[in-house]
Amino acid sequence: MATFARPTALLALTAAVLISVLGGGGAEAQQLSPNFYSSTCPSVATIVRRGMASAVQKERRMGASILRMFFHDCFVNGCDGSILLDDTPTFTGEKGAGPNANSVRGFEVIDAIKAQVETSCRATVSCADILALAARDAVNLLGGPTWSVPLGRKDSRTASQSLANANLPGPGSSLATLISMFGNQGLSARDMTALSGAHTIGRSQCQFFRTRIYTESNINGSFAALRRRTCPRSGGDANLAPFDVQTPDAFDNAYYQNLVARKGLLHSDQELFNGGSQDALVRQYSGSPSQFAADFVTAMIKMGNLLPSSGTRTEVRLNCRKVN
Ligand code: HEM
Ligand SMILES: *[C@@H]1O[C@H](CO)[C@@H](O)[C@H](O)[C@H]1NC(C)=O
Repeated sequence: MATFARPTALLALTAAVLISVLGGGGAEAQQLSPNFYSSTCPSVATIVRRGMASAVQKERRMGASILRMFFHDCFVNGCDGSILLDDTPTFTGEKGAGPNANSVRGFEVIDAIKAQVETSCRATVSCADILALAARDAVNLLGGPTWSVPLGRKDSRTASQSLANANLPGPGSSLATLISMFGNQGLSARDMTALSGAHTIGRSQCQFFRTRIYTESNINGSFAALRRRTCPRSGGDANLAPFDVQTPDAFDNAYYQNLVARKGLLHSDQELFNGGSQDALVRQYSGSPSQFAADFVTAMIKMGNLLPSSGTRTEVRLNCRKVN
């Protein structure tokens, strides 16, 4: 943004601000800001950090699980805490969607942090913002970059299992599918490739990479053999393997080095380095941790700015699992 605005630009800016303040009257998309809670809940970042530090200390993998939860929240009608809502006899949420069921984990960690936040600042901080901060802290606690998180999201009063099924990419996705699914969210191929670097931490169940290790040819032979040892041809569907064999719980650029060595765990991972449009970028990230970190941060902020479509009724939930 320019430092000095010309008078005409200033006029236009003033008008735009007035329109956004006066306009709508309902659930118009709010402008997020890192200072959103600086007067209403100045301790929120510290409370979330402490909660994440204790969760990650208890189990390193939890950092990965929370980062993934944020991605799965944001890709379904924006980052609105919709993934956190429990099913009830009259409400079907997102937890039962294919990409989430028996897979997304860490809901108790968000509950515990929310309870702490409520003690200090009652009915002030949304679950969606807590998840955004928690994901940032997860990355940093495992050795990755940090950044200031724009805040001011509201929590949804609805969720969509069908949108969760439609919007979240599966492990068998082609490069073209990945680019188009991220494109549908306003994210570029570069954003997609940088965000996929999240797979430098965490684990995958055997059922999601079995086909790759038994049938694909663009895979390092000794890596495939290693993975087959704990992922049999049949059975053991839920057996876990780390995405990154060298540094499974460190947020580094090893994911890209693995891709270059044809040691991507999922079919969708290796699609980023298989003779296509993302090869050069993968090579660049594999040799430059700082370039990866910078692009990852940019893309996380962009993904975090996805907001519910206008007209969606929102609130600050008191309990992340249910609407007020
Ligand atoms: C590009 C398309 C993507 C696909 C197809 C994909 C698919 C998957 C799959 C199949 C798993 C294993 C789930 C399980 O075994 O239960 C997984 C785990 C994970 N994903 Fe992705 N993912 C993608 C992008 C992302 C993005 C953008 C992020 C975050 C920015 C992310 C973060 C993670 C993390 C951290 C884990 C490990 C979770 C844990 O250990 O609990 N993924 N992903
Ligand atoms: C596969 O990986 C192993 C172990 O890292 C390495 O020694 C070997 O050279 C790789 N094979 C190929 C064909 O690149």
